[in-house]
This record gives sequence, C-alpha cells and structure tokens, in this order.
Amino acid sequence: MQDPYRTIQWCNDHIRLLDQTLLPVLEKYIDIYDVKSICEAIKRLSVRGAPAIGVAAAMGLALGMLNARKESDQNIKSHFDKLCLEIGSTRPTAVNLFWAIDRMKKVFNENAYLNLDELKQRLIEEAILIESEDRLLCEQIGMRGQELLEDGDVVLTHCNAGGLATAGYGTALGVIRAAFESGKNVRVYADETRPLNQGSRITAWELMKLGIPVTLITDNAAGAIMQAGEIDKVIVGADRIAANGDTANKIGTYSVAVLSNHHRIPFYVAAPLSTIDMKLDSGDRIPIEERDPSEVTHIGGSLIAPEGVSARNIAFDVTPNELISAIVTEKGIARQVLKDSLKAFFSQGTH
Ligand code: MRU
Repeated sequence: MQDPYRTIQWCNDHIRLLDQTLLPVLEKYIDIYDVKSICEAIKRLSVRGAPAIGVAAAMGLALGMLNARKESDQNIKSHFDKLCLEIGSTRPTAVNLFWAIDRMKKVFNENAYLNLDELKQRLIEEAILIESEDRLLCEQIGMRGQELLEDGDVVLTHCNAGGLATAGYGTALGVIRAAFESGKNVRVYADETRPLNQGSRITAWELMKLGIPVTLITDNAAGAIMQAGEIDKVIVGADRIAANGDTANKIGTYSVAVLSNHHRIPFYVAAPLSTIDMKLDSGDRIPIEERDPSEVTHIGGSLIAPEGVSARNIAFDVTPNELISAIVTEKGIARQVLKDSLKAFFSQGTH
C-alpha cells in the first residue's frame, strides 16, 4: 500500500512538507523557499523524527546553495559552511541531522571543482537521493523486523516512529506495518507521548490510515496494561544510538523499557544505521534537547498549570543497552551483546 501522505519532498526550487504540528486536525502542506524557514520548521517540529530531520537538513542545504548568488562565488565554501552551522544548530539529539550534513559536506568537497550551477545541481540530487534511500531503508527494516512479531501480538509503541518520522514507511511502525501487510493479525497500543502528543496526534493517525488496529492510552497507563498481561512486545524508534546500544529516544521511552523488562516483555528498537553514532561509546555522551517549558505548562495554547510555575521540558531520554532485547536495522537484527552486533554491521561497510 502507498503511503497516504508524503512527509517531505523536493519540488524543483523549494521543499514541500506536511506540517505535523497541525495533525490530526489539518493535513496541510507547507512550501519552504529559504533556509531560515526550514530551520524554523525543524525547531517547531513541523518536520520531526530522526530520519525525516536528516532529509530536511540535506534538502535545507540544497536550498541554501540554490539561493546562493553568483557574486558570492568566491565565498561559496564559507556560505556552505555557514549553512551547515545554521542547520546543525536546530536540534541536538537526532544524529541523522549531523549524518546528513556530513554526507552533503562530502558531496560539496568532492564536487568543489564544478561550476556553481553544476554544484548546486549535484547537491540537490544528493538530497533527493537521501530522501528516496530512507524510504527503502525503512522498508528493509520492516521486512527484517517483522519476524519478531507473531500473529496475534499486541505491541506497544511510544512517540511516533512511523512514515511521518521518516521519508516514508517508518521504523518501529514500519516493523508493525510489515507484519500486518504479511497477514499477521497485530494490534497496537500507542502511548499519547506528552508533552507534544506525537503518539496521539501522529501514530494513532498513521495507523488508522493504514487500517492497523490501534488503541490510544495515556503514558501513565503503560504499566497497568503490561501488568494486566495485555502487551506481548514493545517497539520504539531512536534518535541516536551509541556504539554500545544505549538508545536516546523520546522522553518516556526509558520508563517504558524499565516497565517492559520488569514484566519480561521484549523491548525492541528499530532504526537505520544512520541513527547509530559509532563515535560515542556510550549513551551518557548523547546531547539531550531541552525545550521550552511552555510545551509542558500549555496544551494547544491553553495554560494547564499555575501561571509562573517552574517547569522543565526534557525532550529525550537514554535507555541503557541492557534493557534492549534487539535493535532492528536495514542490515539485520542486532541482538545482545549489542555492542558486538552493531560493530559487525559497520565493519560490513555502510554508504
Ligand atoms: O521530538 P521528535 O518528535 O522529533 O521525536 C521523535 C522520536 O523520538 C522518534 O521516536 C525518533 O525520532 C525515531 S523516528 C523514526
């Protein structure tokens, strides 16, 4: 089945993306013509989810270069470096953002001898390639991961690691989707995922569009539902995985992992290799985004806490590798000891 939406695409001279801040009330695409606007879109989560952020970063760089004027030719390298810094400062945790910038830098350096128009074209092509590859990688993750799910399984997920968090198909939801498409009867419990409700607004929306049975719960209900024996597996996405398998994902993932280990429920992570940061040996070195507290004190612009209360909005947490049963990647399923299995994937070579 085709995705019923397109997360992000390159349209000749601009970027078009589905504004995820408006879901599920409005399905509205926005057209972006400059780097400042793509940076703002990433920061306010109009485009979100680690792989989708990577695609947005690559397209943002292509856009910034496309807008570079002829007279700045001799400064083109410093213009490009400035764009990398600007886009690289939007969100700190999802490593796909930096992975995509590095990939675009490599293309820039390898093609620096071309004239400006040719160089621009080459960067646009690379950004489009990153987008199309990401969807294929997600399908491979789905295909490989679906063997972890059995007919009749009830699966809990946290946040949104679906088609909208990627260029299409999704990682954690891609695994669920591949199992469903292969004829397995699977059902999903979706945590609402406060404060920005990616679970209720986006995961539930995507699964309903795909016809996969989904039940929405508050984040606080996950423990009780596990205790009642209603969950067979947990699967989530990732924003950055350290070399030892420690995994940063949306705040609350760690609590879900502790709960699922307590209840002896397998806890799986699904992510492309571009989400694995082999430069970090453990998760305590992953930079964790802290967002504006108003996202905690307000919902949809309405105050839900006493005016002036102190609040913190920690956007991600790190699940230690020992709580993770396996990590599904496009190259296969990394099992314990995760450090060794992940290393083996990288020694096979990546793009
Ligand atoms: O703040 P967000 O919405 O960008 O956070 C998204 C998540 O935490 C996802 O689970 C993660 O990026 C994996 S997306 C395939």
